[in-house]
Amino acid sequence: MHSNQLRTVSKHGTTKRIRLHQARLGMFVEELEGGQRHRQTAGFMIASPQDIERVLRSKVISIVINTGKGVDVLNTSRPGGLYDPKQFEAALFARHSQEEIREAQETIKETTPLIRELFSEARLSGTVDIRDARAAADQIISTAQNSSAAMIGITRLKSKDEYTFLHSLAVSALMVTFGRTLELSEDTISTLALAGLVHDIGKVALPRSILTKTGKLSDEEFAVIKTHPARGAELLAHFQDLPPAVFDICLHHHERFDGAGYPHGLAGKKIPYVARLAAICDVYEAMTTIRPYKKAWTQAQTIDLMLRSPGHFDPTLLGAFVSKMVISGAIA
Ligand SMILES: [Fe+2]
Repeated sequence: MHSNQLRTVSKHGTTKRIRLHQARLGMFVEELEGGQRHRQTAGFMIASPQDIERVLRSKVISIVINTGKGVDVLNTSRPGGLYDPKQFEAALFARHSQEEIREAQETIKETTPLIRELFSEARLSGTVDIRDARAAADQIISTAQNSSAAMIGITRLKSKDEYTFLHSLAVSALMVTFGRTLELSEDTISTLALAGLVHDIGKVALPRSILTKTGKLSDEEFAVIKTHPARGAELLAHFQDLPPAVFDICLHHHERFDGAGYPHGLAGKKIPYVARLAAICDVYEAMTTIRPYKKAWTQAQTIDLMLRSPGHFDPTLLGAFVSKMVISGAIA
C-alpha cells in the first residue's frame, strides 16, 4: 500500500486516500480533498473520462475512494520490484486480450529488424534509409488502432542490446496513442510515428562505450551524450521532403519547459508543440522500462515523479497525458 494511504473500515465500506494520478474508471469517490485541509464531499462513480476531467479540474490534492462501492487502486501502484518473467506475462494477459497481444507481438517482430537496419545503416553510412522508417511507422500506426497498449506493455522489457530499437518503437507507439487522444490530425499522427522511431538516431554517432555505460556518466561523457539531438538533426537534414515536425522532435526532445534543457535551452511555447509532447513520451517510456535484474519503476511511481518535476514538462500537456493516457487506462 502507498505510504500516504489512509484506510478506514466502516459499515459503509472501506475508504482509502489515494493520489490524483491513481484515480481510475470505476472508482467510487467519497471525498475530494483540496489545499488548506479543504474537503469537498463528493459521492460519485468515475464512470467516464469526463468524470476524470472533472476531478482534475477541481484542483484536488487527494481523493478518498470507497473500495466497497467501486474498484480499488491498480496493482501497478505497488513499489517496483525485480523483473519476474511469470509475473510480467501474467500482468500482460490480465490487461490485454490474446488477440491484442498477438497483433502487438507481430508488429514488434516485423518492425524491429527495420528499426535495427535503420540505425546500423545510419551508423555505417551516415545516412538514414527513410523508407524503412516509414514502413515501420505505418505498421505501428495500424497496430495502434487496437493494440497500442499491448505493444507499449510488451516493449517495456528490454535487454541491453535491443534497448534503442525497442525504446524508439515504444516512444513511437506512445506518441501515436497520445496524439489520437488529443485528436490531432492523421497527418500529424503519421509524423509522430516516424519521429518516435528516429528521435534518437543521432546516438549512432556517439561512442558505444558511453552509450552502454551503466555507471554514472562524467561531465565530459554527458556533454557527448548531449550532442545526439543536433547530430540526429544533421542526419535528417538531408531529406527535403521530411515533415518539419520530425526534425523538430529530433532536435528538441530534450528541451525543458523552464529552459534548462538542451541543445538550445528553449523555454515554454518556444519549444515546438510536438517536441513538448515527445519529451513526455520519451521520459515516461525510459522510466517505465524494465531491465532484467534491475528494479523497475512502476507506472504510478513514474507519473508521480514526472508530476513532481516542475519546470521539466509542459504542464498542460502533462495533465492531458495523465488524464487521457494513464487515468483513463489507455496505457497500463
Ligand atoms: Fe534522446
